[in-house]
Amino acid sequence: MKTASSTPVAADHLLRCVHCGTVQASADRMFRCSSCSELLEVAYPEWADAGREFGLRLKEIWRERRNSTLPEDASGVWRFRELLPRVEREHIVTMSEGNTPLVDLHKAARDLGITRVLAKHQGMNPTGSFKDTGVSAAISIAKAQGYGLVCCASTGNTSASVAAYAARAGMKSTVLLPQGQVASGKLAQALEYGAHVLQLETDFDGCLKILHEVIRHFPAYLMNSVNPYRLEGQKTLAFELMEQLNWEVPDHVIVPGGNLANSSAIGKGFLELQQLGLISRLPKVSIIQAEGANALVRSMRESAGEKLIPVPPHTRATAIRIGNPASWRKAVSILRQTAGACEQVTEHEIAQAKAELGSQGVGCEPASAASFAGLKKLARLGFVKQQETAVLVLTGHMLKDVDYMLDAQMHRTLRPIPAEASAVIRALETINAGS
Ligand code: F0G
Repeated sequence: MKTASSTPVAADHLLRCVHCGTVQASADRMFRCSSCSELLEVAYPEWADAGREFGLRLKEIWRERRNSTLPEDASGVWRFRELLPRVEREHIVTMSEGNTPLVDLHKAARDLGITRVLAKHQGMNPTGSFKDTGVSAAISIAKAQGYGLVCCASTGNTSASVAAYAARAGMKSTVLLPQGQVASGKLAQALEYGAHVLQLETDFDGCLKILHEVIRHFPAYLMNSVNPYRLEGQKTLAFELMEQLNWEVPDHVIVPGGNLANSSAIGKGFLELQQLGLISRLPKVSIIQAEGANALVRSMRESAGEKLIPVPPHTRATAIRIGNPASWRKAVSILRQTAGACEQVTEHEIAQAKAELGSQGVGCEPASAASFAGLKKLARLGFVKQQETAVLVLTGHMLKDVDYMLDAQMHRTLRPIPAEASAVIRALETINAGS
């Protein structure tokens, strides 16, 4: 069998401040700019004069790797390693993350009068959310650097993912969770994968603030998305999506926004593809927030994205219950560069969008459904047009938050019936008559 990883040309990289542009070779444990303390992003000076030849060769290499059985080739992250920081093979921690389905939502497209609506289902990752792509990247770097303990603050999914990948890497993990605000599926995962779970009497923003203080004094590896290596894993969604679309760029990619790293990562992926000549135009990357956790929406409306306006967050979509998003500057930059929209949706709109997706056989968690609710709103507003194609990023699996669904389906009383064939037949007759 042909294994394309005989050409492992992963990239050397630098870290660039997203605010003042300072470039540094490495970062300390806080991953902050040494000049202005803002967030950093990974940059690849090697590509500057790589040219279109390089881009075209990449397409071939990536396609060939689909026939390989090597773990790094089977990964939907590491298969694209030419566009990732260099990590030696023995340090790569992978569970074939990525490789997620792209589902055609025919009915949604018909209902909205849009040419095509697709769902990129990141909930089909190993621990049930998009976090796995970023966590695979960051934990591999942590392993290469010799860390034995990784930490994160989380609304739930990051904790599940970090716990699993740390277990695979033979590392310890500690996760800080806002007490009583994490969906039970996620909490159960973190426990089962062996994380040390610390529940704090605060919200996610409070957990993240405390974790930053802790990491300043304690030598653990920070796994939150302020770590720019997380975003390098998450950006591979753009590469995989373009392969699935046969390199035809969609008009819109719609992403739910919480701490605002994922939307930034996906946008970065598309920008890099454009830089390498692999795509000739960008999709509009739009960000959808819950109305009760709408810091970016307010910032865009009230300060044109110049300053963040934090809010006390409230939403039953607990994954995006975040009021002081760390990556807001990166998100603003992606909105500007891709001409995307930033919108908010109500709790009712999220619930309805989630139920509609469910009735089309596509499950997801509440935060993910915000993207579909957002598409409906953007179509109503005329931002998404009839002849266009929109891709929804469904960020998390349906089974993450079962309580939310059971509450939503409460009106459908599950009355017991006698354990007899005749009773079931009577029920079937009623169902048939009703359809
Ligand atoms: N959707 C889901 C299912 C999430 O878990 C998150 C974030 C988001 C969307 C928003 O992504 O923060 O990059 O804008 N979850 C984090 C966590 C905060 O801790 O699991 P974002």
